[in-house]
Amino acid sequence: MVNKPIEFNNADNYERFMGVWSRSAGELFLDWLAPKKSLRWIDVGCGSGAFTNSVLQRCLPVGIVGIDPSKDLIEFASKTQYRDLCKFQIGGATDLPFDDNSFDVACMALVLFFVPDPLAGVKEMCRVVVKGGLVAAYTWDVFGGGFPSHHIQEEMRLMGYSPTLPPSSEASRMAVMQELWTKGGLEAIEVKQIDVERQFSNFDEYWEITCLSPSLTASFAGMSSDAVEDVKRRLKEKVLPDEDGNVTISAHANAIKGKVA
Ligand SMILES: C[S@@+](CC[C@H](N)C(=O)[O-])C[C@H]1O[C@@H](n2cnc3c(N)ncnc32)[C@H](O)[C@@H]1O
Repeated sequence: MVNKPIEFNNADNYERFMGVWSRSAGELFLDWLAPKKSLRWIDVGCGSGAFTNSVLQRCLPVGIVGIDPSKDLIEFASKTQYRDLCKFQIGGATDLPFDDNSFDVACMALVLFFVPDPLAGVKEMCRVVVKGGLVAAYTWDVFGGGFPSHHIQEEMRLMGYSPTLPPSSEASRMAVMQELWTKGGLEAIEVKQIDVERQFSNFDEYWEITCLSPSLTASFAGMSSDAVEDVKRRLKEKVLPDEDGNVTISAHANAIKGKVA
């Protein structure tokens, strides 16, 4: 099996799959952060702007910058209805094109485990945030069965395949996140697990939407179509619908926040 790199290059697919999960987890994350209003935010790895829009609606910032390496997702995010308060631009987490102390809050929503050098990413967030400002992140709990596509990945493993994981998946472990926040120069560090659920109208809808996941696309690229069909068939016997035919999937994420020392 030869995995392709995980690529975020289709905004519509992103919105149908991860955008929905991102909004429900992101809102619980923001409730937990409980930031003051009228702050300057940076959303590192903003993708399609799903989390950025949640910040705009719930936290009433004076402005928010979203930055992401994906041209397609940045183009999609730039169509947001809150154009005057948001600025979206292409860029990476370890080289933020901003001066020191430019923001009050920096967040990575479902991004830390994609950054090749997570500690460098945390340090960059600390650099651009003022002393006492907030630096926070959450990621799916990759090794604790928290991914929305966890059942599919698990079935692949049972069949002897290795699903493609985000390149820095180790950074999704709570203990590793705490170490990163400490080494990055943060204090008053707190952590929390975020639990979410999503309902699909039947198994086929769950399968079709979840297979839009960039990680699964990369995994399936190294398998034959018969093998992928086998995964689906075996899973259908395990992920059972309720009496109305709905399929409910749980996911959970590890979240962390701290203040710039
Ligand atoms: C799962 S998506 C999360 C998007 C968004 N934050 C959300 O919650 O909907 C992961 C995002 O991380 C971005 N990403 C990958 N590598 C990155 C890097 N080195 N720096 C910043 N963002 C990165 C991807 O382009 C993608 O948009």
